Parts: sequence; structure tokens; C-alpha cells
Amino acid sequence: MTTAPARNDYLRGNYAPVEEEVSLSQLPVVGALPRELNGRYMRIGPNPTGTPDPAIYHWFSGEGMVHGVRLYDGRAQWYRNRLVRAEGHSPNTNVLAHGGRLLALIEGGASPVELGPDLDRMSVWDCEGALAGGFTAHPKIDPVTGHMHAVSVRPPHGGARYTVLDGDGAVTHVSEIPVDDHPMIHDMALTESRVVVFDLPVTLAAGMRNAQAGLPVSNFPFVWDDRHPARVGIMPHLGSAQQIQWVEVPRCYVFHVLNAYDNADGSLTLDVIRYDEVFIRDLHGPGGSVPTLVRWVINPATGNVDERVIGDYSVEFPRIDERLVGRPHRYGWFAGVGAHGIKITDGVERLHTKESLETGPLVKVDTVTGRTEVRSYGPGRVTMEPAFVPRPGGEAEDDGWILSVVHDANTNLAELVVLDAADIHAEPIARVFLPRRVPFGFHGNWIADSALL
Ligand SMILES: [Fe+2]
Repeated sequence: MTTAPARNDYLRGNYAPVEEEVSLSQLPVVGALPRELNGRYMRIGPNPTGTPDPAIYHWFSGEGMVHGVRLYDGRAQWYRNRLVRAEGHSPNTNVLAHGGRLLALIEGGASPVELGPDLDRMSVWDCEGALAGGFTAHPKIDPVTGHMHAVSVRPPHGGARYTVLDGDGAVTHVSEIPVDDHPMIHDMALTESRVVVFDLPVTLAAGMRNAQAGLPVSNFPFVWDDRHPARVGIMPHLGSAQQIQWVEVPRCYVFHVLNAYDNADGSLTLDVIRYDEVFIRDLHGPGGSVPTLVRWVINPATGNVDERVIGDYSVEFPRIDERLVGRPHRYGWFAGVGAHGIKITDGVERLHTKESLETGPLVKVDTVTGRTEVRSYGPGRVTMEPAFVPRPGGEAEDDGWILSVVHDANTNLAELVVLDAADIHAEPIARVFLPRRVPFGFHGNWIADSALL
């Protein structure tokens, strides 16, 4: 008996890997790049090498490739893409600067990889062994102290670890946090005084049970776990497991946190992207329910959690002005889900499969009024994660620019588009034409020259 080759949508279209590493200079620009943008826009995602088996390849498992666009003095000086590889580590999830270093990050067992500012060198950076064994793709940097707070899960035992690095990148605090079932902990939340650990029902234990039961498995072993609780742990900065307070939350998974902050009554406000379920219907990707921006107000003293939906559209890849991490924020910018956006209304069918993570327009939400703005980039053009870059000297929270890579299905090429963050409907301030395709991936950030050594 023969079977047809497996189809895997995460190896097709703009999910497919690019094969060449290129260095291209003096990119064409339409509009006027702000002269204040001196640095690099960096983006990273999976780019599987060799011939991945479509029957088992999972989107989260591909080797990392970083794409960089150098902006300086109003010009787009170069585009470069490089596979991320150092001593067998290949982070694919986030790329950011801390302590003057440009770091590619992933959760699980791989170490951070430090990238040269021009993507000309790569080496493992594990803080003299302190981060060996695994870190996270979503640390949070306190804008006042400059400290990096991180919650990671470390194989093979799957306990959680809370790590703090100072502004120079030296590890100053480590505490171990016991959790069961080796949960997938993708993000964390930070307030001015507290750290929030997510312990939600996606686990390695459930993946192992599926494998033992002979169910189809991929090369990414985490799946939805009906037996695991949904809870968050709250503890003070530099806290330990003895101080953590666990609070049960609505049964869901959260990849990403928009922001969190302390309230005067001791409660915390968390704005998160909630999935009713995930890793349950699609062997090759997260495929689950439609992601929804919700606000949780959590009172650790009573265990009470209030939840309400914010905004009108399904969104992912939430971003704020990062000068407000851990402090009250008003605006969030997101990649809208669905080619034209998916409106969230009462009774909406929230169960989708792969389409639940296909992004389309830019979405801006005023979390105070709930006002939602949706900006299309045009037919066949979809944005990846937007990053907010504040205008030097600006005062308003949305005084700055939104930078994102836009995929154009008409040309099968990418652009780096700069919008006015306060007026997202205006004509783009600048469009940088990349003579290559940038695959759909995970996260991107603006790395100012001043952020690197
Ligand atoms: Fe992420």
C-alpha cells in the first residue's frame, strides 16, 4: 500500500524556507525614512534546512534565520539574511538587544546566540554558563532599572526557572519554581513590583502520552493537556518559589502578553492574547482557537480573576511602547489575524485551524476606550509583527513609528514599512523594498545603534 506524500502548509507559500543567504546594499525607498532611525530592524523565524519530512515537520521546530535591514541617516544601507547557527544552537523565535549585545533567543534547551551587529559573526552567549540548558524568547526588560527578567523551562526535567540579569547582562538572581508536566511557558508578565509565571495546559507530558498511545506526533512534542491546570504564579521581583501565589485563571493558552501593571488595591492588570485551545487540531502548527485580546484583573489576595475582551478584532503579536513595560499603558499595536481581520463578537465561532495565526492588517487598540483601528496594507499584502519605535523627544504614548515587514503575495517579495503610530491610516512614511521574500516567522524588533556596544 502506498500513501500520498503528506502536505504541510508550514513548508509552502511564504512559510517555505528561503535557500540563499544574501547581502544586498542601497535598497530602494519610497517616501522619506526618518533620520532619527539609525539602527537595524531585525526579524527572525524558522527556516528549516535540508529536506524536512512534511509528515512530522512542525513550524516551531525549524532552524532560525535572521533578516536584518540597516537604516542610517535616512537611507536603507543593506538587507542581509543569515541562518543562526553556533555550536549546534539555532534559536528561531526572537532577536533583541540587552547589555549591548544583539541576541537571538528561543525557549527550551538551546542557548542564546550573540549576533554581530552586521550579522557577520555568531557565537553562543550563555552568560558564562548561567543560561546553559535553556532560556526564553520573551524576557522582559524593566525600563526603569534596565534589568532583564526571564522565566524559562529547562529540559529534561521541565522545572521553571526565574532569572534576572542586570543592565550589563550579568545574572544577579536565579530561583527554581517547581511545576508539573513540563509545561510550555512562552512568555511572562512583569509589573513594577511583581513577576507573573504562566503555567497553562500545554505540556510535554501530554505529548508523551499521545506518542505512547500511538497517536500521530510531530517533531515538536508539546500539545494541549486536558489534565493540566491553568494558573498563574505571582511573586515579587527577585522572589523565590516560597513567595509565589498561584491563582487559577480561565482555561486557555497564552503565547503573548501585551503588558501588565500593579493596581493600588494590590491587584494586577494583565492584557494577554487568549486562546481557548491550541496545539490540538493541527499537527504542524499551533492551530487552535481565534486569538483574542483580553484583560485580566487578578487579585492574588482573593484568587479572583475578572476577564473582559478588549477591542473588536482577533489579534496576535502584541506590542506596546516598551518604555511602559510593567506600567499602565493605553495603546497596543498588533498584527490582525485573518487576511482582512476577524471581528470578535459575542457568539463568534472561535475555533479555527491554521488560519487562526495567519496575519493580515495592522490593528491598533486603545485599551482605555476599546476603540479599534484596522489598517490594511493592500490586496495580497499582510504584515508580520509590528514594532513601536518612540520618536526622540516625543511625549504622547503613540508619538513614534510602527515598523513591520509586509509580505506582498503579488510580487512574492517583502517590504519594511514605516507608519505613523499615531495615525496608522496615513500614507506610509517610508517603504523599503527588500529584493527578497521574508518567510512568515515569529518576532522582530528595532535595534537602535545606541543599544549595541
Ligand atoms: Fe513569541
